[in-house]
Amino acid sequence: MELRLIVEVVTQYLDQQPAADKLRIRLYMALRQAILDRTLQQGVKLPPTRMLAEELDLGRNTVVRAYEQLLVEGYLEGRVGDGTYVSNVVDAASKPAAPKRLIGTRREGLSRRGTSIVNSAASSVIQNGAFMPGVPDVDQFPFSLWRRLLGKYLHAGQSRLLHYTHLGYGPLKVALAGYLRVTRMMVVDPKQIVVINGSHQGLDLCARMLADQGDRVWVEEPGYWGARNVLSAAGLEISPISLDAKGLAPTADDWAQPPRLVFTSPSSQYPTGTVMSLDRRLELLEGAFQSGSWIIEDDYDNELRYDERPVASLFGLCRRQRVIYLGTLSKVMFPGIRLAYMVLPEDLVDAFVIGNSELYRGGRMTEQAALAEFIDDGHFTAHIKRMRVIYQERRDILRQEMESRLGNAVSVSGGHAGLQLLYRFNAPVDDAQIAAQSLAEGVVCRPLSMYYADKHNSRAGLNLGFAAVPEKAIAPAVATLVRVIERHL
Ligand SMILES: Cc1ncc(COP(=O)(O)O)c(C=O)c1O
Repeated sequence: MELRLIVEVVTQYLDQQPAADKLRIRLYMALRQAILDRTLQQGVKLPPTRMLAEELDLGRNTVVRAYEQLLVEGYLEGRVGDGTYVSNVVDAASKPAAPKRLIGTRREGLSRRGTSIVNSAASSVIQNGAFMPGVPDVDQFPFSLWRRLLGKYLHAGQSRLLHYTHLGYGPLKVALAGYLRVTRMMVVDPKQIVVINGSHQGLDLCARMLADQGDRVWVEEPGYWGARNVLSAAGLEISPISLDAKGLAPTADDWAQPPRLVFTSPSSQYPTGTVMSLDRRLELLEGAFQSGSWIIEDDYDNELRYDERPVASLFGLCRRQRVIYLGTLSKVMFPGIRLAYMVLPEDLVDAFVIGNSELYRGGRMTEQAALAEFIDDGHFTAHIKRMRVIYQERRDILRQEMESRLGNAVSVSGGHAGLQLLYRFNAPVDDAQIAAQSLAEGVVCRPLSMYYADKHNSRAGLNLGFAAVPEKAIAPAVATLVRVIERHL
């Protein structure tokens, strides 16, 4: 596992430790928990104490003493003349039940919902590096410009922006409406826009405002597991609908039991990258109108389209107000901004504004004001334009490297837009094991099997994010990944 990943993991675990404890204790607890969670797996070589101390900005003695304690307790083992490794004690004692995570495994006291959220959780501690899908290169963001804009709105004269907000920042909605008109062929009144803290919140709001406990929601199979988890946690019954070359492909039998909600990513299906065809879009809109279903259109990374102009939105095609559009700033700016927006049919706006305010309370007005100016002054489109060039080159390098090393063993899809390429294996392999082993060697990826709601439908593959990987780092990371893959072919 690379130094960078280890430092990221240890930093995140350190942040969870009580600040009052001595640093040596916090570091010991952080490393121990990472090993118990198997985020640092058996066989991972820890960096030399001097190096880790430098990376974490700690005294060397602090690191030495934490390592010593973990060696004594058996979590680590020293190999003479080689270094310090995570021992096999934890793996030998029990097999991991769930993916590695920061949270503990206590389930007592949780509701059935809480337990189910924990059991189906799939988000990762690691959010960066080769080949984490769905993440942009945040190092390329124009920090000084953003800092200046935030500074402009973050001072005593602008204290009104620090209150709760019911309606959000008006000029941001105007800026977003203008942007959507030009790029997504959507003619919307700014009033139809509700600014939220990330798409997940928008999904939760849709589930709560438009559906009741036990109502059916169609999700794409394979599809975005994060959306599935939010919708399921809100009490909806998940009904996976398969895809074909034209996108979401509900059968007549499916329509015989119409859903309350449909969750779909028509412009670039996640994770396959399929673009929904026009005839399929029209069929879906007609079916939703006839059966009174609502469609949630997840348009998460379409600005980053490389080969053609962005595909028009489903929202813009719908004349009968059945579509709720979800856009996010996570992929084109940075995920930590936690700003996204919904565009609603006019009749839903008032109810959603109230729901948003009652359930979550609005805020982040300083960021909203900075963002409005960022868009109005052209920085937003300039940043997207610049990133498109960088990402396209990275996509091409990844594609060439994978093709030259794996040839016909895999088939690639996606990559016309967005931040990742999907590789399907042409022979049956255990993709989850490949992903776990490649993580242990420092390369992050997501197995395709995790995107299926019904494991019987599952196919093996890997979803590889290229956007946050500097050009020079791509070939070595592919070499590592391919070494792992070849052990399984
Ligand atoms: C397909 C898809 N939709 C939506 C999101 C969530 O975006 P946000 O950061 O706005 O919650 C993600 C995040 O990874 C995603 O992959």
